[in-house]
Amino acid sequence: MPLVARTRGRDRALGSRGTLMALCQAAGLPVASACSGRGACARCIMTVLSGMAALSHPGARERRLLTRVGAGPDQRIGCQCRIADPSGDVEITTGYW
Ligand code: FES
Repeated sequence: MPLVARTRGRDRALGSRGTLMALCQAAGLPVASACSGRGACARCIMTVLSGMAALSHPGARERRLLTRVGAGPDQRIGCQCRIADPSGDVEITTGYW
């Protein structure tokens, strides 16, 4: 179970192939966005509760967005970040789930 979304209602196990945003949406979890996942708005920002090492390294676009919004070290841009190590467990959440 590589990716788990922690929500107020119930936790959901997600897949491991695709961006965090795409995996959440495929599981029926809404993800805030004003750019449809093109890496321009940062509204899809997510908090990584555990498993940061199993995620892809942030590319230039994601690093720019994280800097722009003053993200903490436990935050990633959902439409830019992927599972890099499918054997690792990752837990994510947002402020609105
Ligand atoms: S949806 Fe806009 S940056 Fe991710």
